[in-house]
Amino acid sequence: MKIIPMNEGHVAQVAVLEKLCFSDPWSENSVASELENPLSLWLIAEEDGAVCGYVGSQTVLDETDMMNIAVRPDCRRNGIAAALITELVSRLKAQGSRILRLEVRESNFSAIALYEALGFTQLGLRKNYYRNPKENALILGKEWEI
Ligand SMILES: CC(C)(COP(=O)(O)OP(=O)(O)OC[C@H]1O[C@@H](n2cnc3c(N)ncnc32)[C@H](O)[C@@H]1OP(=O)(O)O)[C@@H](O)C(=O)NCCC(=O)NCCS
Repeated sequence: MKIIPMNEGHVAQVAVLEKLCFSDPWSENSVASELENPLSLWLIAEEDGAVCGYVGSQTVLDETDMMNIAVRPDCRRNGIAAALITELVSRLKAQGSRILRLEVRESNFSAIALYEALGFTQLGLRKNYYRNPKENALILGKEWEI
């Protein structure tokens, strides 16, 4: 498995995973438009041309927001999400960002466990941030020295 920046060949598979994993998925066009966005960095975990997982981020100045992360159900609990976030942080450090923030549904225990294992801490809570179904978001973040 290798972790590489997203390219056009990944977009359709990412969009399929979005639909599979999220109740409010990004469309294929929205994912494709991230390739043109100079603020965006999306990484793909790829094996033999197949997308096993991905993480999407956008950076403004020295602050980065994680837009989404998902791993194919048959590939889970193999460290792929952890590897994607570790690689993302390493690339963000190199480009001068100093914090990675994200929102997560407060019932998403597997994702929260992942983020806590990687050193993210809670920064706040957004009431009724999500729809389908309506739910609070925890805001988590991880900062580092640059
Ligand atoms: C959350 C998600 C990305 C995790 O992907 P993954 O590749 O399975 O995660 P990893 O294997 O890297 O897990 C790393 C650590 O996170 C924690 N973790 C991950 N999934 C977990 C689960 N289902 N239950 C408990 N802890 C979990 C564990 O500490 C795990 O380490 P371990 O396997 O050695 O115990 C995946 O479950 C997913 O795609 N979920 C649907 C989409 C989603 O909810 N994304 C997050 C939106 S905010």
